[in-house]
Amino acid sequence: MTVEYKFPEGFWWGTATSGPQSEGAADIDGRKMSIWDYWYKEEPERFFDNVGPQDTSTFYANYKEDIKLLKETGHNSFRTSIQWSRLIPDGVGEVNQKAVDFYNNVIDELIVNDVLPIMNLFHFDMPMCMQEKGGWESREVVDAYAAFAKKCFELFGDRVKHWMTFNEPIVPVEGGYLYNFHYPKVKDGKRAAQVAFHTMLANAKSIKEYKELGQDGQIGIVLNLTPSYPRSTENEADVKAAHIADLFFNRSFLDSSVLGEVPAELVELLKEHDVLPVYEEGDVELIKNNTVQYLGVNYYQPRRIKQKESEYTEDVFMPDMFFDNYEMPGRKMNPYRGWEIYEKGIYDICTNIRENYNNIPFYISENGMGVEGEEKYINENGVVEDDYRIEFIKDHLRWLHKGIEEGANCTGYHLWTFIDCWSWTNAYKNRYGLIALDLETQKRTIKKSGRWFKEVADNNGF
Ligand code: BG6
Repeated sequence: MTVEYKFPEGFWWGTATSGPQSEGAADIDGRKMSIWDYWYKEEPERFFDNVGPQDTSTFYANYKEDIKLLKETGHNSFRTSIQWSRLIPDGVGEVNQKAVDFYNNVIDELIVNDVLPIMNLFHFDMPMCMQEKGGWESREVVDAYAAFAKKCFELFGDRVKHWMTFNEPIVPVEGGYLYNFHYPKVKDGKRAAQVAFHTMLANAKSIKEYKELGQDGQIGIVLNLTPSYPRSTENEADVKAAHIADLFFNRSFLDSSVLGEVPAELVELLKEHDVLPVYEEGDVELIKNNTVQYLGVNYYQPRRIKQKESEYTEDVFMPDMFFDNYEMPGRKMNPYRGWEIYEKGIYDICTNIRENYNNIPFYISENGMGVEGEEKYINENGVVEDDYRIEFIKDHLRWLHKGIEEGANCTGYHLWTFIDCWSWTNAYKNRYGLIALDLETQKRTIKKSGRWFKEVADNNGF
């Protein structure tokens, strides 16, 4: 392979997954229910093909073999998450030794194979017993999370040097409290603001715990950034609408976790509409003093915005009071997921972080393409020929490379995902992996993109 795009030395090449989406074994060895298990029990029809989260991809049983596959596909780093509902099944109190053994084994196996473990502490998977206490609306749950995080640092921090407090904290706010795609399916802007604020607080508290332990690693957060583009840069109302969308969906967590404060404009806006979250003395200071040391950036799609033109019919506060989504004519789409593909977005993120966020170190912690019906691309040797995925990755890497050349402090690229995994309400509809999973037999087969990815990692570029 001739290398036209060379990446910085030591660049992380790998993939991301999460405990609930890959481990399976949901109801054995002491694990208790998360909101996903509960919701599936209540409403299985909300999940594609009625496939629930119990047996997701069997990593719990197959981790050793799977980690060999990480090597075969060129990984030098890998992110997954520790499930709170596995490690501390009652949310607080007793630690489940079987879970400790499992995560110890995974971490050790990764290290033996020269794959850097990046461990995340929360991937949409609120334990059901904690949701019953109010989930992120409750301060008690914030404290329980911080205690869980501390326990993880104590148990695994001798070997794990890269931690993430949360994956995409805005998503449970959107899904669970605004747009009905996560449990508890509430639609209430005020409660959403409270959930967001408490998540910020939980992030800061766990960082404080980490720093107090004095371990020699780094702690960060994974944010899904969706650059907001106005329909027209010449139309002031469009520009303003895009700015407000950016405040809600990007800057809320980006500013609070990197700069230590929620944008004043966002606070004003919430105040004006009487939906400011309740907070206590010391909270603002705590967030200010416990910012992240690095960032994971998940990038899938941009957000295109126009001024509010449709009538606002909700009787509660919603971000959508201030803007409409805009379907740009000619946009490139991933039809299976319904997300726009806009490669330059990754470069715009690089520029934004460099110019407005002190050029904090970050890596692309997720990027990827979910495709339905990949069986039709299987060749005579049983391999999925996913050239579209290779093109997708290349197109993004070119822009990322440009961002790095211009000074962005980006340390790696992780694809979503390793082995095709279960996805929230979409279950196994869209496949994202470098490795195909046969749902019947659980057989893993490296796709064409998996072989290609190894070459890229070996050459540190393409
Ligand atoms: C990210 C999440 O938002 O995107 C993953 O961190 C998720 O958990 C991935 O699976 C792909 O999105 P989806 O909804 O197609 O699974």
